[in-house]
Amino acid sequence: MTSINKSASQVWAEIVSNKKVGAYHHMVFQVGELATHAKPGNFVAIAVGGSNSAMVLRRAFAIYRTFDRGVTGGLLEIVVAPHGAGSTWLTNQNPGFKVDLIAPLGTAFGIPTQPVRALLVGGGYGSAPLFGLSEVLKSRGCRVDMVLGASTAMKIYAPLDGKRSVSSLTIATEDGSTGITGKVTDVIPGIIEANSIDIIYSCGPMGMLEAINKISSEFGIMHQCAIEESMACGIGVCMTCVLPMKGEDGQIRMLRSCIDGPVVDGDNVVWGAKRVIPEGTWGAN
Ligand SMILES: Cc1cc2nc3c(=O)[nH]c(=O)nc-3n(C[C@H](O)[C@H](O)[C@H](O)COP(=O)(O)OP(=O)(O)OC[C@H]3O[C@@H](n4cnc5c(N)ncnc54)[C@H](O)[C@@H]3O)c2cc1C
Ligand code: FES
Repeated sequence: MTSINKSASQVWAEIVSNKKVGAYHHMVFQVGELATHAKPGNFVAIAVGGSNSAMVLRRAFAIYRTFDRGVTGGLLEIVVAPHGAGSTWLTNQNPGFKVDLIAPLGTAFGIPTQPVRALLVGGGYGSAPLFGLSEVLKSRGCRVDMVLGASTAMKIYAPLDGKRSVSSLTIATEDGSTGITGKVTDVIPGIIEANSIDIIYSCGPMGMLEAINKISSEFGIMHQCAIEESMACGIGVCMTCVLPMKGEDGQIRMLRSCIDGPVVDGDNVVWGAKRVIPEGTWGAN
């Protein structure tokens, strides 16, 4: 059985910077040597609300980037969309404040040993883990194309330094406020054909990931996705994040997406299960 990421540790992480970028907050934390263990795809679980808060559950955020700054300590960056009470509380905290943070958690994107042509697709804040991934892939000699989508321009997160790490960047918004008008799935088939894509890496809402997996299956190419199923504990204890997944033996099992994911092979997910345990799932009968 899978267990919590062996590199995970709990630290009091000081906020170094908190800047509003479009609809999001780009936040940087001082995390010490923990930064050296994080890989693209891993996430953090942050306690919110302060020590007397009724918000007992940690909130999960994808790791955008980490930096090892030697003796001055490592830095960890996340991109937060103020959404409900927990994420809004977090984005309201100022530099100097310390938060209770556990990282790195979950699985990471698989990095090919040979140079490949990769397409990275992000929806909304789902672009966050893809820029670090892009840097790693480029350092391995891969060609990296990226597609980012959102409902509107404010929800596209594409920092300048991130753009430099990709060979091409296509932006799609549903209201046409920037880039092409439409969804990421409208442009993916054309990019796969034009650039002979070998593998798709994606992160974003479940509906988008499912639609991308349909396309990758049609083209017969690999698809690794970082799923953002609702998580309550983030460390494998509460079972709120279970998702039906096929194993190598073909058996469907309800797996915890916080420790068996968030990065999984798209073809192993039983998509569209909508919280119903699929027939034939191990232990269901
Ligand atoms: C792996 C992962 C990566 C993510 N990355 C990002 C990111 O990079 N940026 C970003 O902005 N957001 C990200 N999110 C989403 C983010 O975690 C949520 O937006 C955040 O938890 C919202 O918290 P809230 O208090 O603001 O919202 P609310 O809606 O008020 O609270 C949501 C909280 O309810 C709890 N909860 C959820 N489901 C259940 C359940 N079934 N039973 C009991 N409690 C439950 C959880 O603690 C959850 O955090 C990510 C989520 C996951 C799972
Ligand atoms: S979030 Fe608690 S087990 Fe996955």
